[in-house]
Amino acid sequence: MPRQGTSVIAIYPGSFDPITNGHLDLIQRGSKLFDRLIVSILRNETKSPLFSVKERMEMLREVVQGYANVEVDSFDGLLVDYAEKRGAQVLLRGIRAISDYEYELQTALMNRRLRPELETVFLLSHEAYSFISSRLVKEVFGLGGKIQGLVPHSVEERLQRRLAKTKPRGA
Ligand code: PNS
Repeated sequence: MPRQGTSVIAIYPGSFDPITNGHLDLIQRGSKLFDRLIVSILRNETKSPLFSVKERMEMLREVVQGYANVEVDSFDGLLVDYAEKRGAQVLLRGIRAISDYEYELQTALMNRRLRPELETVFLLSHEAYSFISSRLVKEVFGLGGKIQGLVPHSVEERLQRRLAKTKPRGA
C-alpha cells in the first residue's frame, strides 16, 4: 500500500502467554520501523492460557512503557477484521527458525486472501532468542529450571508468584 504521507500502523498479534525476551526484541525492532505498533493479544483462545488476557496485557504494558509509539490491546475474531478496524496496513510476525515458517506462510497467505491490501512483515529476532517460546519457558520454569534472561524480570516475578499459588507447600 503506498504511504501517501500517512503513517504506517502495524499490528503484532499473538498469545503472549507470557511475553518473552524474543517478543520484546521484535517489539523493539518493530517500533523503529513503523510509526505505530499495536501489540495485540488474541482473546478467544481455545488453548487454556496460564495468564488471563488482563494479566498478559498488564505484563506487556509494563515492558513496553518506554516505547512512545507502542500500544497494547486485545482482539477476538478475525485478525484481518481487527486490523481494518484499527486502520493498520501491516501485520508483524517473528520467525525464529525454519520450523515457524510453514505455519506463518499458511496464515500470512490466508490473511492476504482475506484482505489483499494488508501486508505481513516477518522480522527475525536476535539469534540469542531464536530458541525461546512461551511454551518452553512455562515448562522449564514449572519444572524448576532457570529462565533468567529468557523473559523480562517482571514476568519472571509473576511466574514465581503464580507458581507459589498453584504449588502446595513443600511440593
Ligand atoms: O502467538 P501465537 O499463538 O502464535 O499467535 C497466533 C495468532 C493470534 C496470530 C493467530 O492465531 C491469529 O491471528 N488468530 C486470530 C484468528 C484469525 O484471524 N485466524 C485466521 C488466521 S489465517
